Amino acid sequence: MKFGILGAMPEEVALMARSMTVHHTVEAGMRTFYVGEWVGQEVVLVLSRVGKVSAAVTTMLLLERFGVDHVIFTGVAGGIHPSLRVGDVVIGDRLVQHDMDASPLPAFERFEIPLLGKVFFESDREILSRAVAAAKRYTTEFFPQDVSAESRAAFGIDTPAVYDGLIASGDQFLADPEVTAELRASLPGLLCGEMEGAAVAQVCYEMGNVPATVIRVISDQADHSAAVDFLRFVNEVAEYLTGGIVRELLAG
Ligand code: ADE
Repeated sequence: MKFGILGAMPEEVALMARSMTVHHTVEAGMRTFYVGEWVGQEVVLVLSRVGKVSAAVTTMLLLERFGVDHVIFTGVAGGIHPSLRVGDVVIGDRLVQHDMDASPLPAFERFEIPLLGKVFFESDREILSRAVAAAKRYTTEFFPQDVSAESRAAFGIDTPAVYDGLIASGDQFLADPEVTAELRASLPGLLCGEMEGAAVAQVCYEMGNVPATVIRVISDQADHSAAVDFLRFVNEVAEYLTGGIVRELLAG
């Protein structure tokens, strides 16, 4: 297996970038691809930058130029389901593009990708269950050593819970509680919102159903305090959870 691993922000890929063995780097599409190994697996790590187009271009390059056969996206997300707390982990079992809406045209329903006929992109079941197990292993065995009790208390994190379920992506930082509530009502079972995952899932689907895994850690509640909470979490905690869970997934 050759894994393509991407994250949207430098902090989200920092631990992986420090820990992997880089054999060489390749510049393509205004990005640097780090080709090498990590925990015994062949990997290509890259910073995608933020948003669906950035994630789609990067995923396409990973597939076409680097020949990866599995794609892992990791990063933070805004919690939308009321049970989610900062630090909790969500692995996508389905992904949807919440800003896609061609429904004024009678042929299409809201969220449907026109002419592809899809609303939801389903994740590969086997890798999904491996990712859930990896997240549980990291959060219980390693996270308490990697992040001090004081830091965890400052973020109100005890042991992060791990969920699998619906993730929504759109080119929008969700910080208006009314917008978040409307999405919660329109997409039953929705757990969290972010800005890339469903674009990765669509590219992998269109390129022959290449298995893709989206692993998200909740940094904020997609409300008025989202921007402040997000920045603090990304600066201080995110890399341990994002990198640690991917490490356990590759190792397991
Ligand atoms: N990623 C982390 N928090 C987010 C939010 N509130 N909206 C969109 N993407 C996010």
